[in-house]
Amino acid sequence: MQYAFILGRVYTLSLAEILKVLQALGVGHKILACSPEVVVIETDKALKPEELQPRLGGVIKIIRLFDTFQKKGKEFPSQVLGSYFTFKRIKEYFHEYSGKKQFGVSIYSLDPTVRFREEAQRVAFLIKKVLQDETQSVRAVLPQFPSQALTSVQVNENHILEKGAEVVVISGNQRLFIGKTITVQNYEDYGRRDYQRPARDEKVGMIPPKVAQTMINFAQPLKPLDYILDPFCGCGTVLQEAIYMGYRAIGADLEQKMVENSEKNLEWFRNRYHVSPGRYKLFKSNAAEISIILPNYQVAAVVTEGTLGPIYSKLPKKPEMTENFKTLSKLYDQVFKEFKKFLTEGARVVICLPAYKVSATDYAFLPDLDFATQNGYTVLDPLPDFLVKKYRFLKVTERKSCVYDRRDQIVAREIVIFQYGTNDSNQVLTEDRNSNPAGEDENSELTENNGA
Ligand SMILES: C[S@@+](CC[C@H](N)C(=O)[O-])C[C@H]1O[C@@H](n2cnc3c(N)ncnc32)[C@H](O)[C@@H]1O
Repeated sequence: MQYAFILGRVYTLSLAEILKVLQALGVGHKILACSPEVVVIETDKALKPEELQPRLGGVIKIIRLFDTFQKKGKEFPSQVLGSYFTFKRIKEYFHEYSGKKQFGVSIYSLDPTVRFREEAQRVAFLIKKVLQDETQSVRAVLPQFPSQALTSVQVNENHILEKGAEVVVISGNQRLFIGKTITVQNYEDYGRRDYQRPARDEKVGMIPPKVAQTMINFAQPLKPLDYILDPFCGCGTVLQEAIYMGYRAIGADLEQKMVENSEKNLEWFRNRYHVSPGRYKLFKSNAAEISIILPNYQVAAVVTEGTLGPIYSKLPKKPEMTENFKTLSKLYDQVFKEFKKFLTEGARVVICLPAYKVSATDYAFLPDLDFATQNGYTVLDPLPDFLVKKYRFLKVTERKSCVYDRRDQIVAREIVIFQYGTNDSNQVLTEDRNSNPAGEDENSELTENNGA
């Protein structure tokens, strides 16, 4: 089975999330091609995109691929697909719909330096021609150049998946994949779970629900109803997403006001999403003493946007950063020691640490992760090393963390995955690490710059 996943803006996190989830599901998989926009994956089992999509914060669309073509260098998709569409095939692609059919075409280029002008239009013409020969009335919704692909908003607002299909072409230099979109991200629902919450506090920083989901997926494997702890819960985003994904949540914060904010938000969420009341517990506590409130809970994982120190509107001077890092390292040393009182070997701690954005591409990070590694935790790779070497546009730091960054923020988030105890070799891919399947090394030569 072959699938393509359209990756979110912070594509390294999106790819890492997909692979962690496939691994947790026990799905053998092999990456056939990857770009900053899309990854093509062969799996040894059928996936359930409808179940996966709402819990993969970093994935924009999930596409089932039906066919692959060998292709010569600069050949255009419409040339490769010249005689591909027949009435029978289009029937396989299109959703049964009795009214006027509506379809979309999106092209994703595996090489970001190659852009196709009018190619979606030409592929749409091939489809229309077959349908009109069958006297079917049909409308095509197409991206406007320089876009080559429809956004999830366009797919949803035009009801393309219900009234027809979104035909997706993924074009590399040597291969072309074609399939149809099965699911798109429900951007409205993510927006609601972020902005419609009654208690928001921009001053302490709030993590977007999508990123909270990605972090929870980094804590896999988890079982339904496992307890996830966020000891720096703020307004409760991680807790909310943990419950949304079928787990139970324990939240704590040093500030009573924040505990109340989480309470209000989770009450709103519980009513809005019909969740039973027993799925979460909130406490006022210092994270450095959190074990006191936990005697009755078996915590499966800690997922948290830890305190980031002061929030700035302009970059602080170096001595101030150094001082903040010192204070935080001391706190995290106490906190990671505390976690050892209740975590079992192998449990994960996924945490956001502050990263000061010193230039458009550079960050000042906490100088070391000793607060965890000297306390018996191992840093896990977000992505297997061979993939990071092969697809050089992927952005993993030397100490195996990834950065989630928003243009408007001075303090970005460095996301680190720790495991309590030694590393259990966290990646089991079916991919032969030395293979070069069908020469499909698309983009492995890209550097960080042209991939960004
Ligand atoms: C960055 S905010 C977390 C925001 C949260 N992720 C959200 O989306 O709402 C960090 C939180 O840590 C809390 N905090 C700071 N020091 C703490 C400590 N020692 N123990 C527990 N909570 C603490 C702050 O009150 C703040 O609410």
